[in-house]
Amino acid sequence: MCGIVAYVGRKQAQPVLVEGLKRLEYRGYDSAGVALIDARGMLNIRRAVGRIAVLEESLTQKKLPAAHIGISHTRWATHGGVTEENAHPHLDSLGRIAVVHNGIIENYFALKSLLEEKGLKFKSQTDTEALAMLIGHVYTELQKSGDTSGNSSGNSSGNSSGNSLLLRSVQAALHEVEGTYGIAVICSDEPDTLVVARKGSPLIIGVGDEEYIVASDAAAIVEHTSRVIYLSDNEMAIIRPDSFTTTTTDDIEISPVIEQLEIKLEAYELGDYEHYMLKEIFEQPDAIRNCLRGRVEQREGRIVLGGLTKVHKELVAAKRFILTGQGTAWHAGMVGDYVMEDLAKVPTECTYASEFRYRNPIVEENTVCVAISQSGETIDTLWALREAREKGATGIGVVNVVGSTIARETDAGLYLHAGPEIGVASTKAFTCQCVTLILLSLYLARRKFMGQSQLQETIDALLTIPEQIERTLLQSSAIKDLTANFVERENWLFLGRGYHYPVALEGALKLKEISYIHAEGMPAAEMKHGPIALINKGMPVVFIATRGSQYEKVVSNIEEVRARGGEVIAIATEGDRNIHRLSNHVISIPHTIEPLQPLLSVIPLQLIAYHAAVLRGCNVDKPRNLAKSVTVE
Ligand code: M6R
Repeated sequence: MCGIVAYVGRKQAQPVLVEGLKRLEYRGYDSAGVALIDARGMLNIRRAVGRIAVLEESLTQKKLPAAHIGISHTRWATHGGVTEENAHPHLDSLGRIAVVHNGIIENYFALKSLLEEKGLKFKSQTDTEALAMLIGHVYTELQKSGDTSGNSSGNSSGNSSGNSLLLRSVQAALHEVEGTYGIAVICSDEPDTLVVARKGSPLIIGVGDEEYIVASDAAAIVEHTSRVIYLSDNEMAIIRPDSFTTTTTDDIEISPVIEQLEIKLEAYELGDYEHYMLKEIFEQPDAIRNCLRGRVEQREGRIVLGGLTKVHKELVAAKRFILTGQGTAWHAGMVGDYVMEDLAKVPTECTYASEFRYRNPIVEENTVCVAISQSGETIDTLWALREAREKGATGIGVVNVVGSTIARETDAGLYLHAGPEIGVASTKAFTCQCVTLILLSLYLARRKFMGQSQLQETIDALLTIPEQIERTLLQSSAIKDLTANFVERENWLFLGRGYHYPVALEGALKLKEISYIHAEGMPAAEMKHGPIALINKGMPVVFIATRGSQYEKVVSNIEEVRARGGEVIAIATEGDRNIHRLSNHVISIPHTIEPLQPLLSVIPLQLIAYHAAVLRGCNVDKPRNLAKSVTVE
């Protein structure tokens, strides 16, 4: 949610920043801006409403002076509408300090009022401007007090802050701030200095060859360097062309740990696909293969989860699992909930992270909390994890983005290894989250009640899933034709039972978020308790009606919908003639054992949503009002 890119080094800063912003555009895309300090020490700023392309065009039409240091931002509006004034960077009252910010300054109103009383004039409605003004105000106060430690000659404290008034001003300002932030700050009085800080919003420093690229996401760094430093909460850095120092907001110097980025640039490229979402739907077979790699020993019939070794005792002793996440991750958690109780026979609850945190939850002894998140940055999920751990639970992450906040705050975890997911609509992360939770269930099941032959049967079925998804994907163009018949309908229902109930929710979420069609997902049986009133002639009702324990019941529900004129699109098991007779349209998927069926039944639903959005002319990868990761509550 919002993206930051900052640069100091030998190259021209502007192209690096703009290219970086393009890579981060999926994090927020309502407006964007850059601030650069040129060779004369002048601060130049440009902002534009709309996509990065609009900013880029503006920079081409009217060039900014060359610079080797700069900050930039792509915005997802929280405070204040989508206007140029509200776009970042924001300036202090003297126009010498520029700030870009991700997160929310919760006490911005109080800070703003205080600064306004001192005569400062604000130009935007944003919380970020309050921070920029505050940093500028502190800077001026320090200057007035005769503290010249901002000059290169001064060094009052002998540590990192001693030689930068900007750093000291940022530190002092951050002490006044409540909320979350990832920030990058430059100042024309210190034209070779970049200050960055984080609390609750990710920031990564890329350490290149005589250059540093700071970004809120590795996507903007990977083409420049694979050497990175992940800042933790309350950490900051002062970066100059030839050096950098990491410190805390309390000015305690810390030794940076340089890590290696494993992901390659190609993983972020669109390749031959029209949209990232389609690319990611088609990547699922390989994503799942990567997710399974090294974790399933087929011949020995064993599940090996190296990432959980540290908490093995806690897992086996666990009396209860809490699975938590938001959106698609929550749906994967629901699949996990079914599978944990069904296979591992351990009491499990799947809960919205946002609800868990605030309901004063009871966390008994021997509880394990599993935080599920593609980005690893979803603030609700992060806080739910913190709440559970604070109350004594063991925290485990099921996360895609390596080094993300959730991954770093858990006791142990399993990465999805799905590769970067750029499309705002989550697809491959969902299937890999389900696979990971299935692996966790099997890992526990075998240590408890599951016999070797059942484990072997499940492993064999699991290893067949990628090839079965490949077969299902072959129907993409037939699914497009089918979807075209319904694309003007504004209300859809998605129904499923058991393992397919979360899939029904996921199908509805996918359709609404990218095609803006109203869709509801629910347990098929629930329909009779009210929603059946909605069904009228021609209303598309998608049933997940594969062969399994609740098949007969779903068949009855299909009859009920048909009797009321609903148009039934059934996701059915290959070769099921009965469903063909009952439904208006059928999409067949290969047979697999019940706990694994969501991995196949979700594929046609992803494709329906994708094709519907394209046919309706929607921006599939950047749907309106959304952003890839939601780092505000
Ligand atoms: O990064 P996370 O998995 O934590 O994100 C959770 C949700 O915000 C995310 O799944 C969202 O619902 C997607 N847009 C769904 O496609």
